[in-house]
Amino acid sequence: MSLAVVTLAAGKGSRMKSPLPKVLHTLAGKPMLGHVLAAASALPEAAQHVVIGHGAEQVKAMFADSGVTWALQSEQKGTGHAVAQALPAIADTAVVLVLYGDVPLIRTETLEKLTAIAASGSLGLLTVTLEDPAGYGRIIRNSDGAVQAIVEHKDATEAQRAVQEVNTGIMAVPAALLKKWLPQLSADNAQGEYYLTDIIAMAVADGVAVEALQPASASEVEGVNDRIQLARLERIYQAQLAEALMAGGVALADPARLDIRGTLTCGQDVFIDVGCIFEGDVVLEDGVRIGAYNVVRNSRIGAGVEVESFCHIEDARVAAAASVGPYARLRPGADLAEGARVGNFCEVKKSVIGRGSKVNHLTYIGDAVIGEGANIGAGTITCNYDGVNKFRTEIGDGAFIGSNSSLVAPVSVGAGATVAAGSVVTKDVADGELAVARGKQRNISGWQRPVKD
Ligand code: UD1
Ligand code: CA
Repeated sequence: MSLAVVTLAAGKGSRMKSPLPKVLHTLAGKPMLGHVLAAASALPEAAQHVVIGHGAEQVKAMFADSGVTWALQSEQKGTGHAVAQALPAIADTAVVLVLYGDVPLIRTETLEKLTAIAASGSLGLLTVTLEDPAGYGRIIRNSDGAVQAIVEHKDATEAQRAVQEVNTGIMAVPAALLKKWLPQLSADNAQGEYYLTDIIAMAVADGVAVEALQPASASEVEGVNDRIQLARLERIYQAQLAEALMAGGVALADPARLDIRGTLTCGQDVFIDVGCIFEGDVVLEDGVRIGAYNVVRNSRIGAGVEVESFCHIEDARVAAAASVGPYARLRPGADLAEGARVGNFCEVKKSVIGRGSKVNHLTYIGDAVIGEGANIGAGTITCNYDGVNKFRTEIGDGAFIGSNSSLVAPVSVGAGATVAAGSVVTKDVADGELAVARGKQRNISGWQRPVKD
């Protein structure tokens, strides 16, 4: 069996009140359509087809490298019409799995079960029972409990509307049957649309078994029509991620105050305080402690590192036993060696801070290489940019940079060298030398302060 996944994503999503096509709105930092494609791509040999309409060019551009086959539905004439647009590119022998770009939390395990039903020649239908089924297509069963049809809410009688089992829209159908049934759909209904759901009655008429299946959780099949629903699904998804972390041994101060927008991989005994956001690929090794309100993106934090509150860390590497923050900013290319320390109100960009070196207060380090055991005083600035080009600063092992110094790159300060506080260093300092580069102090005795006229 080959599997063709057809994801419907042509609708406008007007209730999002946004120029962005609905399926590009993000959940956990990833477009909703991306979640659907990811769930489906975990199925063996799945060929992905996406039906697009509103914002088609934007959707295509966002998923340009995804290997998706696009089908354009220029006018939205209903779900049956939408699926029909993808059919010409699908072999008769395939199983077609219909998904929705705005139903992002669907799980691969559920889809596996559904496709297995269709692989045996039946129609697999995913249904869910709701407290309030208003608006949904109702599942109509006969006295034996066999599914007979789906009736859309707008076409349903009072008695049918009392049914609480509804159509999620997700189904798996042998392609040959779809190719037979879809051309027979009519738009003679309350909405004047070609309903995909009408194929259920056709299956029953043709003696094809319809097997209904329920998802493990109703959130899997919840659709997003507005930002309120999107925010609700975001919290559900984040709760799932938080639970998976805790099950893996991570201590969370509050699982409800954590956001993961990407992949967070943790070692043993990691602790994460409230209000943290992790983006892209982040690795926290054993025993890492992340303080409150940190944002960490595409970074690796080594074993035993403490990141105190309110730091912003991006494309950085922090080796074991280093410490960061509070209020530190590590920009791309920041590379802290073992036991290094970057303290409050310091910014580090594209620089190595050597083993055990300290950059503790109010400092900018950019395009620099700092050796081991150096001490960078408060307010030190590497002047790495002349307005056109960037230059490097080198600071040797055990160097001591006095407070409020400016190191005008390209410049090097040797091992064990000292820079006097307040210096503007423009010339290289050799190993062990003291550089003093500041106005000499003059004390004027007997000086009188001006007095007011
Ligand atoms: C559909 C089902 C209904 C089910 C409900 C679950 C039909 C006829 N009805 O109703 O039984 O309970 O979903 O949410 O299938 N779309 C297109 N092109 C179209 C029409 C729709 O791509 O021409 C896409 C939309 O972007 C949307 C999805 O299909 O993502 C569902 O369409 P919508 O019109 O919202 O269907 P419902 O009326 O909700
Ligand atoms: Ca809908």
